[in-house]
Amino acid sequence: MPFLSRLPIAALTLALALLFLAGIPTTQAAPPAQSGDPNNTCLACHGIPDREIELANGEVMSLYVDAEVFSDSVHGQEHLTCTACHTNISGYPHPPLNANSRRDFQIDRYEACRNCHSEQYDATLDSMHAKLLAGGNRDAAICTDCHGSHDISNPHEPRQQVSATCSQCHATIFDNYKESVHGAALFDESNPDVPTCVDCHGVHSMEDPRTAEFRIKSPELCGECHADEALMSKYGISTDVFNTYVADFHGTTVTLFERQSPDQLTNKAVCYDCHGIHNIKAIDDPNALVVKENLLVTCQRCHPDADANFPTSWTSHYIPDKEHNPLVYYINLFYLLIIPGTIGFMIAFVSLDAIRRIVGRIFGRGHDQGHGGEGA
Ligand code: HEC
Ligand code: HEC
Ligand code: HEC
Ligand code: HEC
Ligand code: HEC
Ligand code: HEC
Ligand code: HEC
Ligand code: HEC
Ligand code: HEC
Repeated sequence: MPFLSRLPIAALTLALALLFLAGIPTTQAAPPAQSGDPNNTCLACHGIPDREIELANGEVMSLYVDAEVFSDSVHGQEHLTCTACHTNISGYPHPPLNANSRRDFQIDRYEACRNCHSEQYDATLDSMHAKLLAGGNRDAAICTDCHGSHDISNPHEPRQQVSATCSQCHATIFDNYKESVHGAALFDESNPDVPTCVDCHGVHSMEDPRTAEFRIKSPELCGECHADEALMSKYGISTDVFNTYVADFHGTTVTLFERQSPDQLTNKAVCYDCHGIHNIKAIDDPNALVVKENLLVTCQRCHPDADANFPTSWTSHYIPDKEHNPLVYYINLFYLLIIPGTIGFMIAFVSLDAIRRIVGRIFGRGHDQGHGGEGA
């Protein structure tokens, strides 16, 4: 069966090869490359546009490699040979091609990256995408989906590109992110301080973000930036958000929970329950989940009986002051003044009393003794 199904490919291949060979001496279609470059042998055939091959499932695969694009790539600049990746090929004819589909071919060939980038390769082994792939999801990302194969460029720059890499497969999330306070700052202002997809998810060793573990440690993820005074003062954003969160009843329970049983799912609110995840907005944006008009609905997700007064039961992220939660502020202030005041008064009272007694004793010693003597 496999032999029969491959027969037409073999015939086509032979025909193509003859076509190529016939074309080589006369054609000028292949871009002129430096002589002595071993890649020229390959590009003599693969540098000719429009050449393609039909795979077993009927898909057509182009055989064209743009020499200029390759030489501009990170690998072209390092003068990598074609055979550094295509280790199974040395000349023509090639070993038989037994990929059923284009995707089969890609999944088979990306293994080539391992030879030189074993660190990244090993990191991906436990990643979410690798697990999905092993579980049969053929669309899960492999090296070449994110990096390309012949056109690989610096993956860190421009920084927008990092998030754009994910957009080809996670379009809805990307669109939400792009409109968020973080994404908009990255795309509209090239702001280097906001998170890209990989700051929150990691890259090669990406884990499942929907586990209890990820949820419980998520406040620290936000805290990496939002607890950083130097960073946040640039934007006039308070870092109390983190301290107050950890101090409030939601945060305290999450923190305690983390210490006791890290693998149980906590239902206490974490940052993204109130602010959203990929759609986090500035707090004065009318679409923000925490803006006054939306806040009750946000709380009601977990406190279904909450009424309009409910959100005020939480002091938000503010350490109470005259402007925010004045009642709490004045009560605090009251205690702040009254407690030292009372203690001060007590100390003064006790000291004065002691002095009075001492003075009284010295002054009244004779008298007392006399009195005592008198009594004895
Ligand atoms: C005489 C023309 C010719 C030359 C020279 C040539 N190829 Fe090919 N190549 C082909 C044809 C035709 C195919 C289609 C499949 C087949 O015939 O094996 C192909 C397929 C391929 C494929 C895809 C299929 C596979 O087996 O992976 C790769 C990769 C490839 N060639 C790389 C190279 C490299 C690298 C070189 C240089 C060492 C090279 N080729 C030299 C004609 C050529
Ligand atoms: C950095 C590794 C690497 C280098 C260097 C490289 N290739 Fe490839 N090539 C791949 C991978 C991986 C694929 C599998 C297809 C994919 O993922 O797009 C591929 C696919 C191909 C194909 C099949 C058609 C296609 O584009 O998918 C041809 C033909 C090919 N390469 C030829 C070449 C030639 C010619 C050179 C040298 C100029 C070269 N390759 C250099 C990694 C490389
Ligand atoms: C024969 C060795 C070799 C193979 C195979 C190879 N690479 Fe590379 N790669 C290099 C070298 C050398 C560099 C440039 C030096 C560096 O940045 O590490 C590089 C650079 C890169 C970079 C840019 C790194 C940076 O920080 O700018 C990426 C991304 C990359 N390779 C991805 C791949 C992928 C994906 C594959 C498989 C399709 C692959 N490489 C196969 C040798 C290789
Ligand atoms: C889901 C997309 C994705 C996959 C899959 C992926 N990468 Fe990357 N890779 C990236 C991004 C994005 C960066 C840049 C990260 C940054 O700048 O923080 C990167 C960075 C790199 C670098 C530069 C050095 C570094 O670690 O930052 C190399 C080399 C590299 N990847 C190779 C590979 C190889 C080899 C594979 C497959 C085993 C692979 N990548 C799989 C997206 C991916
Ligand atoms: C080639 C397509 C592709 C690319 C590129 C890609 N992914 Fe994925 N990713 C998938 C598929 C398919 C799944 C399985 C779940 C689904 O269909 O959404 C997945 C799952 C995930 C998951 C696990 C959540 C779940 O639903 O299981 C995370 C997190 C993730 N991707 C993040 C990223 C990030 C971050 C990037 C960019 C650095 C990226 N992906 C790039 C295809 C891709
Ligand atoms: C500020 C941190 C942050 C950024 C930036 C971020 N994510 Fe997420 N992402 C999360 C969190 C937290 C979750 C878990 C949400 C949950 O519990 O459902 C998540 C969940 C996911 C999931 C799986 C659940 C789903 O909704 O399908 C995917 C896929 C994903 N993110 C992809 C991306 C991509 C792609 C980007 C960039 C465009 C991105 N994320 C940017 C924090 C972030
Ligand atoms: C119970 C809901 C809730 C939780 C949980 C929560 N927030 Fe907030 N957050 C709000 C509300 C409501 C506001 C609107 C401003 C206010 O009244 O404090 C806000 C405001 C903010 C602001 C703007 C502050 C400023 O100075 O402009 C930031 C940044 C922020 N939160 C980050 C976080 C982070 C990080 C976490 C987790 C550590 C978190 N939030 C947890 C509800 C929440
Ligand atoms: C890599 C650093 C970084 C991480 C991680 C991060 N943020 Fe931010 N965040 C920023 C910066 C920088 C701004 C200010 C952007 C601007 O105003 O242009 C911001 C803005 C915000 C705002 C808007 C504040 C306002 O004044 O309106 C909220 C809300 C917010 N972030 C919540 C979160 C939450 C929740 C998380 C975790 C899920 C998180 N952030 C993770 C850097 C980060
Ligand atoms: C993700 C779910 C979730 C969200 C969203 C949420 N909470 Fe909570 N909240 C909880 C849980 C769970 C408790 C702890 C209940 C207990 O321990 O008995 C709690 C406790 C409280 C308490 C302590 C008193 C009580 O009822 O036990 C207050 C007050 C409170 N939340 C206010 C708010 C406000 C205000 C909002 C919206 C800004 C909000 N919560 C959003 C889950 C949530």
